[in-house]
This record gives sequence, structure tokens and C-alpha cells, in this order.
Amino acid sequence: MSNHKIIASNFKTNHTRASTRDYVEALDRGMRDIGYSEEVFLFPPATALDAFETESAIRIGAQNAYPTVKGSFTGEIGLEQLGEFAIETVLIGHSERRHILGESQAFIAKKFAWFKEQGFTIFYCIGEPLEVREAGDEAVRRYLVEQLEGIDTGYEKLVVAYEPVWAIGTGKTATPELIEKTHAVIKRLCDRPLLYGGSVKPSNIEEVLKVPGCDGALIGTASWEVSSMISMLEISEKLKTEN
Ligand code: PGA
Repeated sequence: MSNHKIIASNFKTNHTRASTRDYVEALDRGMRDIGYSEEVFLFPPATALDAFETESAIRIGAQNAYPTVKGSFTGEIGLEQLGEFAIETVLIGHSERRHILGESQAFIAKKFAWFKEQGFTIFYCIGEPLEVREAGDEAVRRYLVEQLEGIDTGYEKLVVAYEPVWAIGTGKTATPELIEKTHAVIKRLCDRPLLYGGSVKPSNIEEVLKVPGCDGALIGTASWEVSSMISMLEISEKLKTEN
């Protein structure tokens, strides 16, 4: 079995069009320097989407999009805008969209179904808030089941990311034991590649990627600086050859 891990960076509301271009150029060079030949996924803000020409396998995805080709959905982008840059990857269900922007599971499921219909690669995020984690394992399981409601978990272009809300952007990473335990629960619900996300950084990515059942990482904060992203890719590459 391949030991390849899927590494993805979520820029959130960071970087401009100009700085994203510089980032992609530096990442392209960095990936060549370290001999990283696998695909890396980047989710820049909508204003920085572009069809970057790179030698390395850098795949650009959208952090969000509306389930429409085009139309009257003020502030949103649709398939026509993504198509201009040949974008075929989208992030759906991120906790910030669920909890800050108030996206419901019904709407998320509708979005998922629509982008699946378009053949998109979908990075689908799930994860519990602190009060649910504190309520115990069964409460967490039920919460995750609800976040998979209406989702075709057999979709072949689906990548799932487990991101506990209390670990996102807080510097507080889940322990390897907790990631392993929760990933096992999710794998029983959905047998697709499963990433971990939540304060992954150069100092902990090795232990995260070594967790049995962890197929990669979705990284926010620590990926915004390109040198830090390259360090994490280098660690992932090293682990691949170690095994
Ligand atoms: P973080 O974000 O790495 O800053 O915790 C992860 C995410 O939200 O995808």
C-alpha cells in the first residue's frame, strides 16, 4: 500500500492575489528542491483563484462555492467562475462555515450533491465542538453521524477531514490517541481517505501523520508561511521513504 499522505492548505481569509502568486511560485520551487512528487492541495481565498502553471503538482481548490453554474447569489461564486481557472476541487462543511456563517447540514448536503454531480474532488470537513467532546465518545459519534447526513460517503472523489473545532486555530492539537480513536469511528461511517486538521504544524505533523488511520493533514495557520509549509511537506516525504 502506498504510504503517501494527502497534504492540504486552507488559507482562509489570508493572503492577497499577489502574495498567493508568490506563495505558489515559492512552493513550486520548494517542492522540486525536496523532491516532493505528490499532489498538494491549496485553498486560497476566492479573489486569489487562478490557473497557476507550476512544475510541481499543486492543485488549487475553492474554499467555498455556491451550487449553481451562475445566477443571482450575491457574494457567492459558482461553476462559471471556477471554470475560468479550471478549478475542480472544493472544500465543503468547514467548521467556520458551519458555525460562523451558519450553514446548515441540509444546505451543506445540497452543495455536496451538486458538486459531486459536477465531478469535483470534495474535501469534506467534520468535527465536534468542545462541549460535545466533553459529553463523551457517544456524543461525539452522534455529532459526526449528523454531519454526514445527506452525504454520499461512497463518492470516489471524496476526501474527509476530521477537524475538532476546539483544535482549530487554537494551538491545541488533539492527541494521537484521540485522533486514532475518532478516525476509527469515522472510518466505520465512511471509508474514504481521512485527514486530520486542527493546529497541525512543523513540530507535530510527524506524530499526526504517524497515527494509524490518518491519511494526511488539512492545515490552516501553520501553512500560511510557505517555508513552514515546505518543512511539513519535507517531513511527510521523509516518513514515506522511512517505511
Ligand atoms: P488550523 O486550521 O491549522 O489553523 O488549526 C485548520 C483548518 O481549519 O482547516
